Amino acid sequence: MTVSELAASFDPLGPQYEDPYPVYARARREEPIFFAPRLDAWVVTRFADVDAIIKDPEGFSSVNSLRPLRSPYQASIEVLMTGYPQRPDHVTSDGEAHRRLRVPYSKHMTTPGRVKGSEPAIRKRADSYIDAFDGTVDLVSSYAAPLPLETAGDLFGFAGDDVALADVGSRSLFALATPDQTEAEEVEVARHVVAFQRRLAEYARDRHASPTGDLISDVVAALAPEDGPLTFEDEAQLVATFASTFGAAHITTADGIGSALALLLSHPDQWELLVAQPDLVPNAVEEALRFEAPIPAQYRLATRPATVGGVDIPEGADVLLLFASANRDEERYPDPERFDVTRKPSRHFAFGAGIHTCVGAASARLQMRVALQAIVERLPGLRLVPDQHVEVRRSLNVRGPLSLSATY
Ligand code: HEM
Repeated sequence: MTVSELAASFDPLGPQYEDPYPVYARARREEPIFFAPRLDAWVVTRFADVDAIIKDPEGFSSVNSLRPLRSPYQASIEVLMTGYPQRPDHVTSDGEAHRRLRVPYSKHMTTPGRVKGSEPAIRKRADSYIDAFDGTVDLVSSYAAPLPLETAGDLFGFAGDDVALADVGSRSLFALATPDQTEAEEVEVARHVVAFQRRLAEYARDRHASPTGDLISDVVAALAPEDGPLTFEDEAQLVATFASTFGAAHITTADGIGSALALLLSHPDQWELLVAQPDLVPNAVEEALRFEAPIPAQYRLATRPATVGGVDIPEGADVLLLFASANRDEERYPDPERFDVTRKPSRHFAFGAGIHTCVGAASARLQMRVALQAIVERLPGLRLVPDQHVEVRRSLNVRGPLSLSATY
């Protein structure tokens, strides 16, 4: 196969990772689907092609959707073997197995009044963080990160120190086998994952014996309805879905809030517009999700030969769906590289699409809306500390600012 210069040099975690958008725009123009040797995967950049693949779950499996860029070190694998064996979760399963794992989550998250009912607690938290601001503040660690963490803690029914343990454990799960890690660092990360798994299993056993109506209780009741103690296999399956969902819930939403604030404050005209017209906040949330997707990419695996956008993709190939690129496709959005809070919201891939569409989208949107509303109302003079370099996480699957210094 001949590989173009664009495809040969494509390296999402290379120098382009902080601002990958110019490369994505070039790919959409020149070679919208290409094979990237560095990833050993076909990269899909246009809205229509991402849409076609994500809506064909039989032709494109999700088993590899979170494929890491490398294997973990042997020493980390040994630590992980002292915890629960990895089982497919809803994100990485297909067909009936996927449906069975997803339904209890989507049922819990769509129970009438549940998401809306969480709004006063979210607003109270947002206000309490703002009350504690003192002049110059890191908006990520003091605002964008704790709000979804505590909200996810409520959802799962975590008590006391378990929210902090779940924070470290879920971040560690996402950090396993990421680039730039030494063996010692990864072993430490693996230990946190195992501690988190064990605590999750204790919660599962506890809620199996005495349900409380939280997410864990409902999922345990649906996936392990039998009386009597949970089997080890039950626990392994429950732990796998709880661990990934907790991270999927708070890390992504924190990135969503952090990116929205970074975008607004680095576009002062857009910030001023929101201060003057706070009813634009829901619009601003959609625009921020479109412009900086917190999950910029996911893999799929071709289960049979396919032709997409005129390109032949062989059976067994890994396919990288670049949501972050599809969300800026000029064939779909006028002037797509412009961040514009007055843009009429339309469909984007920040929450995926098709049968794996995010079950927490309503909750994530609510948290982002409340977070922006509270800060726009209370700190209209907020501005970025000048000349700072806003570093984003170097990852294929999750994207957001690591810190954001602002003053008011
Ligand atoms: C801004 C915040 C969020 C973003 C950007 C986001 C994004 C996504 C995306 C792109 C997917 C699709 C994955 C795929 O196609 O393989 C997904 C799935 C999922 N999300 Fe979210 N999410 C967010 C917040 C949440 C929250 C608050 C929850 C709370 C429970 C949640 C739970 C899930 C679950 C359980 C799935 C798996 C669904 C399935 O595979 O059937 N997410 N999310």
